[in-house]
Amino acid sequence: MVKAQAAVLWEAGRPWSVEEIDLAAPGPHDVLVRNEASGLCHSDHHIQAGDSPAALPIIGGHEGAGVVEEVGSAVTDFAPGAHVVYSFIPSCGRCRWCSTGHQNLCDLGAFLMQGAMGEGPRAQTRGQGLGALSLIGTFANYSLANEASLVKVPESLPFAQAALLGCGVPTGWGSAVHVGQVKPGDAVVVVGAGGIGMNAVQGARLAGAEHVVVVDTASTKRDAAPLFGATHTAASMEEAVSLLSDLTRGVMADVGILTVGKVEGAMIAPFLELVSKNGVGVLTGVGHGSDVALDLKVFTLWQKQLRGNIYGGCNPWADIPRLIRLYESGLLKLDELVSAVYPLEEINQGYADMLDGKNIRGVVEHRH
Ligand SMILES: NC(=O)c1ccc[n+]([C@@H]2O[C@H](COP(=O)([O-])OP(=O)(O)OC[C@H]3O[C@@H](n4cnc5c(N)ncnc54)[C@H](O)[C@@H]3O)[C@@H](O)[C@H]2O)c1
Ligand SMILES: [Zn+2]
Ligand SMILES: [Zn+2]
Repeated sequence: MVKAQAAVLWEAGRPWSVEEIDLAAPGPHDVLVRNEASGLCHSDHHIQAGDSPAALPIIGGHEGAGVVEEVGSAVTDFAPGAHVVYSFIPSCGRCRWCSTGHQNLCDLGAFLMQGAMGEGPRAQTRGQGLGALSLIGTFANYSLANEASLVKVPESLPFAQAALLGCGVPTGWGSAVHVGQVKPGDAVVVVGAGGIGMNAVQGARLAGAEHVVVVDTASTKRDAAPLFGATHTAASMEEAVSLLSDLTRGVMADVGILTVGKVEGAMIAPFLELVSKNGVGVLTGVGHGSDVALDLKVFTLWQKQLRGNIYGGCNPWADIPRLIRLYESGLLKLDELVSAVYPLEEINQGYADMLDGKNIRGVVEHRH
């Protein structure tokens, strides 16, 4: 039994509660990780706000990095002392999806919503079993995770930057590179430039886009966007219509990426207006309704596409090492993404700052 400090959600709409929890001893395929940093992704806020359903109580956090403390009897790929990042979707390497280059769709991901991949509850507090977000729960200074949820990282990589490689960076970068399939010379529009969207901008730039237009209601994000590769900014989708039309002589964006914090059904039609004939609109941001109104005739006759996206279409075992190489060679910015650091006790302030548009990515640094 290991004692840990964790941010627990007891009830939707209530703040994260920081308290002591007990973690079970590692099962055969488990790894006990001493967490060092965890990113504050908007997806956890959807659960806290009650927009995304989850079995409660739950330890939050799905974007984290740390050091292996102890391994279960059947674990062969990780040893104590190894530096690791969590992949927010586990990857078995063998299922139909993993074995065809779609680790982001691994069948183990089906366990995420049910909250169990090991045996029984693996954490508890106040005499009650706790779930762990994405089966990892990185808003805790220790986590018990299945080895399928971990990827090794070099010791030279700072923990805060490493943590973002578990969700925000691959999800955003892959939105452009894998799902949007941005080509050299493309025009790309990214709507919502937060922790995910700013990395979609980086992916579009690295894939050779000529124009990368960022649409964000927050002026702080518009001001920061050129650092990551944006060539133009706009404060609304309406404003971006004339901007894109001027830039592309009326063709519009080859690829659109929607990464606002909360997707509303009413955003889809104006979003697809920014996309060219034969263009693709990538839906990365999470929405909860089913009320999408589209001009179906235009959608069909202009041969538009709307593609869902989980984890940027990434294969964590291949893409996380690739993203680390890009960072080491100076082509991918990670340091600049970490815009504020909080102790775990201030996690609710971190989320307030995210909603106020103050952060590109806020990060919790754990203490032990
Ligand atoms: N598909 C996936 O695999 C996946 C993974 C992680 C996160 N997400 C989702 O991606 C979305 C973005 O997450 P994040 O962590 O980057 O959030 P964030 O809060 O850091 O960023 C959202 C950005 O959208 C901007 N914004 C909000 N409303 C807007 C509007 N109407 N027009 C233009 N800009 C607007 C905000 O100012 C902010 O900069 C969330 O819905 C999150 O749940 C999806
Ligand atoms: Zn996330
Ligand atoms: Zn799999």
